[in-house]
Amino acid sequence: MKVAVLGAAGGIGQPLSLLLKNGLPSGSQLSLYDVAPFTPGVAKDLSHIPTDVAVEGFTGAPDDAAPVQQAVKDIDVAVISAGVARKPGMTRADLFNINASIIANLVNNIAKTSPKACICIITNPVNSTVPLAAEVLKKRGVYDPHRLFGVSALDTLRSETFLGEEFKVPKSSININVIGGHSGVTIIPLLSQVKGFESLSQERIEALTNRIQNAGTEVVEAKAGAGSATLSMAAAGARFALKVLDGLLGKSGVTENAYVEGGSPLAPFFAQRVSFGKNGWDKVLDYGKVTDYEQKLIDAAKATLDGDIKKGVEFAQEWLKTNA
Ligand code: LMR
Repeated sequence: MKVAVLGAAGGIGQPLSLLLKNGLPSGSQLSLYDVAPFTPGVAKDLSHIPTDVAVEGFTGAPDDAAPVQQAVKDIDVAVISAGVARKPGMTRADLFNINASIIANLVNNIAKTSPKACICIITNPVNSTVPLAAEVLKKRGVYDPHRLFGVSALDTLRSETFLGEEFKVPKSSININVIGGHSGVTIIPLLSQVKGFESLSQERIEALTNRIQNAGTEVVEAKAGAGSATLSMAAAGARFALKVLDGLLGKSGVTENAYVEGGSPLAPFFAQRVSFGKNGWDKVLDYGKVTDYEQKLIDAAKATLDGDIKKGVEFAQEWLKTNA
């Protein structure tokens, strides 16, 4: 298996690459790309870790397609964390103007070089960058919804952490479905489906929901201008990418939450639990019964999600007019 990390020298990309160097199956290849000129140095650094995963690093100016295309040649999976992070007072949507063209460009190069790759997008705003990527892939004639993912798994990781603390149980025992999208009100943790839910007051339910929805901002504020979550996002990205790989390698019963175009009646792109197979995600798992409170959260998310999706699609359509 060959995995590319795009944005590999950044705050998320470096720890993500480290986790993949240590977590990929023996015999895999890890290909790193970033506009930062020291990216081959990051690859060299990782290459001294004694796992049987070969690492290569590529760099070049953003408008130079050659190094990106070398990095993504014949890959099975791409994980994209390239782009800018938010600062206090910003929403994820505020990043769109800068990050949109970065994603369009990278995805365009993947489409040309590895049209069957599974593409996992971390770059915010995920609610918009994923539909944007879908448009670029469609235009290139290689779009397969089953191979395109928005990485919303950090919302699941955070839910596992906060609920483990709440119920004083091992965090690994928490099994939660977080649906919707990956920003503010679109992050909908289905607490009612977690063991122990009956013991929570409505006040605690709302406090926990609110904390999970705003956990990214909690980190942005704590970092006080130095960016957003990098280490926990790297953990989420690595866990996600390794599950995608498990599916590609034929392991059954592997699931995770992801923002995909999965036929949800609620919005064209929707975060939901999917199972992984040999061709990307193979099934969307029905999220089942929800409480009235959760239903209200779902209803409230719809307008934001629809707007975020439209923004991504419209950007891609304009971008494609001037980018062959
Ligand atoms: C997060 O959830 O931490 C990331 O999406 C980064 C951010 O801006 O919040």
